[in-house]
Formats: sequence, structure tokens, C-alpha cells
Amino acid sequence: MEIQRPRGTRDFLFNEMKERKCVESTMRQIFETYGYGEIKTPIFEELSLFTTKSGEGIKDQIYHFQDKGGRDLALRPELTAPVARMYIKELQKTPKPVKMYYFGSCFRYERPQAGRFRQFWQFGCELIGGKSPGSEAEVISMAAHCLEELGLKDFEIHIGNLGILRNILNDANIEGDMQDQVMGIIDKGDVNELANLLEDIEVDDNSKELLLKLIGMKGNSSIIKDVEALINCSEHACNALFELEELLKSLEAFGFSDYVVNLGIARGLDYYSGTVFEIYVHGLGAQKQISGGGTYNLIEVFGGENVESTGFAFGFDRVMDALKKQEKSIETKPSVKVFVAPIKNDLKLKAFEIAQKLRKNGISTDVDLVGKKLKKILSYADTLKIDYVVLVGARDLEEGNVTVKNMISGEQEIVSIENIAESLKHKLGT
Ligand code: HAM
Repeated sequence: MEIQRPRGTRDFLFNEMKERKCVESTMRQIFETYGYGEIKTPIFEELSLFTTKSGEGIKDQIYHFQDKGGRDLALRPELTAPVARMYIKELQKTPKPVKMYYFGSCFRYERPQAGRFRQFWQFGCELIGGKSPGSEAEVISMAAHCLEELGLKDFEIHIGNLGILRNILNDANIEGDMQDQVMGIIDKGDVNELANLLEDIEVDDNSKELLLKLIGMKGNSSIIKDVEALINCSEHACNALFELEELLKSLEAFGFSDYVVNLGIARGLDYYSGTVFEIYVHGLGAQKQISGGGTYNLIEVFGGENVESTGFAFGFDRVMDALKKQEKSIETKPSVKVFVAPIKNDLKLKAFEIAQKLRKNGISTDVDLVGKKLKKILSYADTLKIDYVVLVGARDLEEGNVTVKNMISGEQEIVSIENIAESLKHKLGT
């Protein structure tokens, strides 16, 4: 019987893991440059953490179960709610702002397809207790900085403000669940479905026309004036637009002006309250969104203080896909540098001893464990792209030496066992 991998999950082999590690470490380095510290939360949480704000409907989209004690639990579909829960318990008294980043797997019960998995990874951050628009501008600039550092080209950062759409909907008396339903359709980007729904719920023609126009508005900062002309009937929507304008000014100060103002961004998760943004790479097709985030109000919803919070998460797997599609080579160096080869099987204990000496000196080393013939060891070392093979032979050993073979030039040199670690460190430049 062949046991299959669960649908929507993947195995990652050596090279892919190396590439992922490399990208992860670049992200880590950039996030830490901006003053973020890493945190970790559990893979599963109480189910209510995800249903409190999003409603029971979210259960269809996540993995949830009862444990043996009858507790309702869920595999986390994302990390903002877990971080908000943790913040309330552990960090409310910490001086603000609190800047946290995370890297971990998330689980969603989705229809698997290219770029859409049931287990996927997010690399993200939450900035709690900052002030908008400065915090939002910093977070967006950090996302752009990360992608530039990774060498990703042709990504677009689209920025909107939910307050504009939500206030127009309030003015049209579309509130509560109905408003969330409308926002959900806007998030899907289905204009026809939206037009039909607005028709069905008998929204007046002016509001309907205004909404359909607004969600199609995209461009640089110059569209702010056009939007203002459209919405000047609504004071609250104008205030949200003003916030957006202030954010764009802060972004300029952070040196980032390559954004697209996009009023059609609604975000799938319903905890966002103001600024929202998404990053797209068009070459990825339907799953082009490699990141999403914005300002949200979850902490108060969970019974904590009223504190401004903003953040975003990269869909790590999609960033990897985008880098690969753009044929961006991710430099992965072979991890093992040295191979210790006993010339005869009866010298294997000496080979183990020498390998261990090198490892204790911080040199990544492999040693023959299976009694391969020397020719096989050399070809194996070649496949592993090993720099040096240490040949352990009886004659050399009599004089306390081994032979070090450079696998690129083929040159050989006799080195005393006493100096082997120093000599290899020197050769490897470490
Ligand atoms: P999200 O947009 O739902 O936001 O997810 C963030 C990113 O995760 C998406 O932009 C996408 O790239 C990736 N992603 C989502 N679902 C899948 C999937 N099934 N397979 C592969 N990748 C996927 C959040 O989760 C928010 N918690 C982000 C945030 C942080 N907002 C504020 N702080």
C-alpha cells in the first residue's frame, strides 16, 4: 500500500530547502534591521480565536477539530490573530511600539492549485502601538526593501484604505453582515457579481454607480484628487482619503514612491479597519498576490486595549515561486566542505577520529560510513561538490600525516594530523 501525501501539501528536498533557507535568512536580516524581534506561537489555537471576528462561516475554510478532552481547536490559518492573543496576555505592559516578526506554516482548507496550498508558510510582522501613517509607511517600505534585496523584479505594491469603501457603504445603508458580504465580493474582484448583489439589495443608483467607479480607481498619487471629487458628499469617506494621502507623504519620506493607489482592495480577512495593501507579481497568474496586510483592530475585539496595530505577511511559497519564475538564482553553497576517506576499510576508525576533530573545529565534514572503495568515495564527493577530500592512508599515518586533495584543481598535499584543522580552515578561507 502506497501512503500518499495529504492533498495541498508538499515535501521539500535538499536544494529547495537550501533556497528557502537562503530567502528566509534575507527576510530575517531585513526585518531585524528595522527593529523587529522574532516570536513564535502554537500551530493550533482555540477555534474561537478565528471565529470571534470572522464568524462561524470561517470554519468551512480552516482545519478544526475536537481534541480528546473535547476542546474545539483549529490549525492556524494565519498569524495575526494568534499574535494579537499573545500580545494581550504577554506584552500589553511592554513599552510601545512592539515590533514582532514570525515565520511559520499556516493551514487553510482550500482547493489546491498552483500557488495555493493547504499548508503554506507566512513570513510576516505585526507592529503594535505605533501611530499611523508612520507605522504603515515603515511596514510597506520594509516589504519593498525585502523584495528588492531578494532581487525580485516587477512587483507592484497596491495601497488602499477600507474606510473609503466602508463609509460609502454605510451612507448607502449597507451595514453589518451585508457590508461584509459586499466587501467579500469586492475582494474577489468580481464586478458583475457586485453589480448584481447591489441590484438585489436595492441600493440606490447613485451609490451603486459611485461604488462601481471607486473600486476601479487605480493610479499614482494624482488620482487622490479625482477620488475626492467623487466622494466629497461623504465626510467620513473623505477623512479616510485624507489618511491615505498622509500615508503617501510618509512613504515618500521613507524613499518609496513606486506604489499604485488602488481603491478596489477589500482584503479577505475582516479585521482590517483603515490602510490596506497587497503586493502582486503578475507572472504568477491567478495566485499573483505574494503579500497582504494593513491596519486592524483585533486586539480590542479580543478584550485588550484599544491600540493601533498594523502588519503584513508574505506568502513565502509565492515569493519563492516568483523568484524561480524570474529565474533569479538563489545562491546556495554546498554545506559539506570536506570529506574524510579511509583508503582501506581498516582505517575507518582513524577516519572517524579525524572527521570529528574537523567538526569540533567548525568545519562541516562528512566521513565514509559504508566502506566504499576510494574511487566511489571520490565520485560521491564530486557529486556533493565537496572542496577537499582528506585521504587517510597507512603510510601517511605512520608519520602522523594525511593527504589533502583539492577536488577542483586535483592537487594533493601532505598535512600533519596535528595541523589538519588549521590547514583546512586556511584553505577554505574561514
Ligand atoms: P492574507 O492575505 O490572507 O493575510 O495572507 C498573506 C499571504 O499569504 C497572501 O498574500 C498569500 O501570498 C499567502 N497565502 C494565503 N493563502 C495561501 C495559500 N492557500 N497558499 C499559499 N499562499 C497563501 C494574512 O494572512 C494576514 N494575517 C496578513 C497580516 C498580517 N495582516 C496584518 N498583519
